Formats: sequence, C-alpha cells, structure tokens
Amino acid sequence: MIKNKNKYDHLFKNVSPASMSGIHIFGADDDYFKPQKYNDVTNLENRIWEDLFINVIPLIDQYVCREYLLGMRTLPIPKDRFPEFDAISPLIENSTNWQLVPVSGFLTEDLFFDLNANRKFPVTDIIRKSPRFEEKYSSESIHNEEGYTPEPDIFHDIQGHIPFLMNKPYADFMHEVGILGDNILKDERRLGAELVSHNLRRLQNFAWWTYEFGLIYNNLDTNHFRRKENDMEYEIYGSGIISSFDETLNVINCAKGLSEKSKILPYDIEEIVMTSFNYSEIQDRYYVVKSMEELYKSFKNNQELFWFEG
Ligand SMILES: [Fe+2]
Repeated sequence: MIKNKNKYDHLFKNVSPASMSGIHIFGADDDYFKPQKYNDVTNLENRIWEDLFINVIPLIDQYVCREYLLGMRTLPIPKDRFPEFDAISPLIENSTNWQLVPVSGFLTEDLFFDLNANRKFPVTDIIRKSPRFEEKYSSESIHNEEGYTPEPDIFHDIQGHIPFLMNKPYADFMHEVGILGDNILKDERRLGAELVSHNLRRLQNFAWWTYEFGLIYNNLDTNHFRRKENDMEYEIYGSGIISSFDETLNVINCAKGLSEKSKILPYDIEEIVMTSFNYSEIQDRYYVVKSMEELYKSFKNNQELFWFEG
C-alpha cells in the first residue's frame, strides 16, 4: 500500500490533498473475489445504468477514439440494463486473452497490478447512487453522485474500460503496465520501501494521465464509425472521462474554447509521471498523445522513469 508521507513527495508537482478516507480497500488476503449475481440485479439498478448510459452515449459516439468504438460495437454491453460479466468475458478472452474478474470493490495497488500482470481486469457489480452502494457506505460520509463515485463502479469499469480490451495493442499495453507495477512492488532492484512507494506513485500518475484521463489528436479516419462527425481537435481515450458525463462535457467545452476550466497539454511522459492528480474533482488538465502508438512506444522506451533510485 502507498503510504501517505514519503520522503520523495516533494518531487511531485500539482499536489493537492485528495482524501481516500472511508473507502473500503480489498487486498490479496481479503475475500475480494465476488461473482456477479445477475438475477439479483434490481429494476432500479438497471434504470440507473440506463440513465447514465443514455446520457453519455451520444457524446461518446461522437468523440471517443477508434479502439473504444470498435470494442463497443462488438461487446454485449446493453443500454437499458446491467451488463453480464459472463457474457462479456469469453469474448475478450477470445480476442486478447484478457478476462474479467468480479471483485468486491476498490483493490490495493499490489492486487490490482498483480491481476493486470495476469491479464485479468477487476470489475465491480455495484452502481453509483443505488441502495446497495449506499448500504455499503452507510457508516461513512462520502460523495455518491451521478458524475462522480469515490470508488470505481460497474459503469466506470465496464462502460469506461472494457471495450478497449478488445483491441490487441491496447490490451498488450495494459498488460505491460501491470507487469511493471508488479515488478516495482516486488522490489526487483532492492531499492527499499520508500522508493518502491515513490515509483509506484509515478506509475499511478502515468496511468491516470493516460488510460484514465488521456486525449489523442483527432484521427479523421474514425469518423466513418460515428453517427455524427467529431468536430473537435481531439478524441477521448481516457476511461475516467468516458464514464463521466460531466468530465466528457468539460473536455468538449475546453477543447472548443468554450471553457478555460482545464488545460489541454501536449503529452510529455517525464512531466506526466511527476504530476499528481486529484481523485475527487474534474481534472485540471488533460494530456494529448499524437497516436496510441506514440503512447505505447513512449511507455516501452521510458521504463527507467519508474525505477528512480533516489
Ligand atoms: Fe479506471
């Protein structure tokens, strides 16, 4: 687990306090595996899914990148009810050898990267704003809103991430990130706990500004998959944007010059790994890669950034 205070913290930029207090975090020793009970999903939960989906899908269709759109076209992700993990997982396994693993909630970094290193993607079957969600956090005071959840829910996990795992280069990239996280945590280079924790935070920053909140330059070729042409300079590939209507709208408004709330910056891996983020706000910046290939290549060629030795 990443500790709160680390002697290398001062090296990070953009540090703002982000509280995770109150969130249940499951580790490898906990009973984290939790099969989906699809028949127990209530009408209300299905309706929450439908509302979220219908709200965001016109924007997604117009502005999300090619990899996502193609994955979405091929997976049984329904618009009006919860997706069924057992219907999706074999299709992904057949395409890229990844599997869905149903889990109880937020996982420790160790467990998360360990699963990814084995081409397993953890997914939860609880949805924001539902009675089940409220019950889980009945003893805590936390945000639980349409545009934001304190922990990943089924909408973020499935609608935000899973279509990408149908794409081989993307799936391999996610696997490599998992392996690196695993290797950092095993302290392969015997750097000691403080540096392990610092390097892991670098990798989390990288993940945050790329596959969670990244943009890519508009690839005009993608337009023939869309119902409506993309009229901004970028496409969205960050899963954290895709699963939030508010965040998606913010990206569009900033990209079109209608808002100055967030900066849109060129991708720079050295800057990204040293830039912290806040879980609980609309992001103050988005980094743009030229192409997904640029992202994969830069990750491959800059592994030493994640092995800082002090
Ligand atoms: Fe995520």
